Amino acid sequence: MSILITGGTGFIGSHTVVELIGAGETCVIVDNFCNSKPVVLDRIEAITGVRPRFYEADLCDEAAMERIFEENPDLESCIHFAGLKAVGESVAKPLLYYQNNLISTLTLCRVMQKHDVKRIVFSSSATVYGDPISVPIPETAPRGLTTNPYGETKQMIERILTDLYRADTEWSVSILRYFNPVGAHPSGLIGEDPCGIPNNLFPYVTQVATGKRAFLQVFGDDYDTPDGTGVRDYIHVVDLAQAHLKALQRARKVTAVECFNVGTGTGYSVLDIVKAFEAATGRSVPYRIVERRAGDIAACYADPQKAENILGWRAQYSLDDMCRHADNWQTKNPNGYDT
Ligand code: NAD
Ligand code: UFG
Repeated sequence: MSILITGGTGFIGSHTVVELIGAGETCVIVDNFCNSKPVVLDRIEAITGVRPRFYEADLCDEAAMERIFEENPDLESCIHFAGLKAVGESVAKPLLYYQNNLISTLTLCRVMQKHDVKRIVFSSSATVYGDPISVPIPETAPRGLTTNPYGETKQMIERILTDLYRADTEWSVSILRYFNPVGAHPSGLIGEDPCGIPNNLFPYVTQVATGKRAFLQVFGDDYDTPDGTGVRDYIHVVDLAQAHLKALQRARKVTAVECFNVGTGTGYSVLDIVKAFEAATGRSVPYRIVERRAGDIAACYADPQKAENILGWRAQYSLDDMCRHADNWQTKNPNGYDT
């Protein structure tokens, strides 16, 4: 039996494929390389010794998706990572985000249904909670108002998958709400490869520490947090990858729609990250405090108890590991996968 991994050459998908192969699973990847590169397949093979079957295709292309299911009759489930994820870009190009993220998911589910594959693990985000009423955030917290089209696609897809289960309870839907995935595989062979100037804190910090960028801009120090800077729940991407394996094992046992927070439960501020990075690498991370970034919230971290109770999963890696592994990846691949 094999698992279809959509977006499997991307940041989180590639790490998950490595963990799945390590657990003896067989993966079939589909990706259109709109935000990843073919060399990722070589790196997965270098780490695992296995080259997963790969299809270059757009999930919105129903005929191509049909072909994948026809050629792989042993597919039994799907982990669905494929999607566009840049918050700012989604505000500038809403139609692109709704088109890509929604149509791809609808097409995927239609083809899965046709081939009687009714098990799906979906990449959602803590963004569905909006600005939380309190932290830590349990899964029962109300889903807040999203502030951008990207977040809205996550809300809508959660609803679509829930309705799919309500209409046909043979489906098993596992919705994983990621907090802030960071770090890289300890080998330094795969990691996050943002194009252009990174939007997210960790890749920016690693580029400052290695001298690629002069200083970090800290977006605001007047939030209602211990040091005034934004607090987030950073989760090592290998821990996150492991959560997918656990979610899949659970989905094989129950037919249900279930949501799980995937975070460590600990919040760190921007300045905590700067200090942790300096301590882990011995290099300095110069920074300047600037204006708040539009749309940012003060604090967001998970109550991850449900994932521990039901999936038997909890994060293992420390913040120091996240910093060291992110730095190892950046140092070994100064230009990402283009080196
Ligand atoms: P990524 O961009 O590295 O990976 C996504 C992959 O999907 C890319 O390889 C891209 O080429 C592919 N893709 C996009 N649209 C496609 C389509 N129509 N057909 C085929 N392939 C397509 O992103 P990631 O960080 O690995 O994120 C994976 C998933 O997790 C996304 O759905 C993202 O929204 C979600 N998520 C990410 C974060 C984060 O901070 N990285 C946080 C919460 C949720
Ligand atoms: N930050 C800086 N300087 C930077 C980048 C970020 O100070 O150059 C700060 C932000 O203000 C925030 C924290 O670092 O306080 C984390 O910012 P990120 O951009 O790394 O992450 P966000 O929490 O803003 O966004 C992430 C994902 C989104 C998702 C959102 C909510 O990137 O996709 O979490 O779940 F929508």
